[in-house]
Amino acid sequence: MDKFTRLNHPPEVPLPAGNRAVVAPIYQSVKFEFETVEETVRNWRGEQPGFNYLRTSNPTTRQLELTLAELQGRADALCCASGVAVLANTLLALTRQGDHVLCFVELYGPTRKLVRQLLGRFGVTHTLLSVTDLAGIERVLAATPTRLVIIESPTNPMNRIADIAAITRLARAHGALTLMDNTLAGPHQHGQFEVDYFLHSLTKFASGHGDVMGGAVIASAELIARVRADFNLVGAALDPHAAFLIQRGLKTYALRYRAQSERAQQVAEFLAAHPAVAQVHYPGLATHPGHALARTQMSDFGSVVSFDLRGGAEAGRRFTEALELFAMAASLGATDSLALPPQLLGSRDLDAGQQRLAGIGAGTVRLAIGLESAADLLADLAQALARA
Ligand SMILES: Cc1ncc(COP(=O)(O)O)c(C=O)c1O
Repeated sequence: MDKFTRLNHPPEVPLPAGNRAVVAPIYQSVKFEFETVEETVRNWRGEQPGFNYLRTSNPTTRQLELTLAELQGRADALCCASGVAVLANTLLALTRQGDHVLCFVELYGPTRKLVRQLLGRFGVTHTLLSVTDLAGIERVLAATPTRLVIIESPTNPMNRIADIAAITRLARAHGALTLMDNTLAGPHQHGQFEVDYFLHSLTKFASGHGDVMGGAVIASAELIARVRADFNLVGAALDPHAAFLIQRGLKTYALRYRAQSERAQQVAEFLAAHPAVAQVHYPGLATHPGHALARTQMSDFGSVVSFDLRGGAEAGRRFTEALELFAMAASLGATDSLALPPQLLGSRDLDAGQQRLAGIGAGTVRLAIGLESAADLLADLAQALARA
């Protein structure tokens, strides 16, 4: 073989029988082959197991899917290139022209926009309520045949708590599927509820280091098969190297999530006692309206702490700019702490009444707590509050 041909067909290094890598290798390959035409045809038709093209599946990504499914307590999962990609893929797969979707003012902004703007263009209608309005949910489901109910708990950024058992019961009784964006709670929580589809931005706690994006939808094998049918056409596959990094991040997930929740609790208690702060929105505080419900649903309350500054938007601006440890940046769940001022919260797709219902005030700030020492975080918050 010509030495330059060899560069494209390097020597294989098969592992001897009984010898294996302790950390699974990254299958950084777009293509996979079989020896014969017959096997290849059978595989392409889905009649023979194996891999052929990365846009459909890849062993490294598959390992991540199986790990996440087990953590969330379901049989299967599908990973995509980002949380929003998995949302878009799932919503496109599950809805048809003429369907109705029930969603909420507290949902992560792009989720609401996907339903209202993208699905709306294809003849899908929606109703928007507060996720705590159980009577309203019951009324809408009874009056309007509904394909999907999309919830979050805690919600981003206000940490509202949804009554998951009550909402899933109502949805089932009226023939609607439930899709829960479980990003803030993380894939170790809420598996005990009869949620049909769990959705996660893996960019957050799962990867945990703020250096990679990904998303996953997790459900029964039958429900994932419905989403997988369109996956290849949407083309939002997760890259195997990203899948490897997320799988690596998951090794420390339990330790990180718990430690970040503990720090968030300390931060919430500190803020609740501070004279510049009107109200703290953290489900771990006994004063939070969803605290009792959260205690029955969650083992850890998460790392997002939102609060209202008495001084309003300008105080929010001064506070966020004065922070030294906290970066002013989007995202959450990673090891470094972040802050968003009122000017960067809220969604322009909501009218004034809906904004009020969502609860984001003129002085609302969102913190995402990382793994810095609690003493350093509190000292930074104290000096920034003094300058706010
Ligand atoms: C609750 C929630 N869902 C979904 C997403 C979207 O995830 P990604 O940024 O990975 O697309 C985010 C991102 O902030 C989020 O907070």
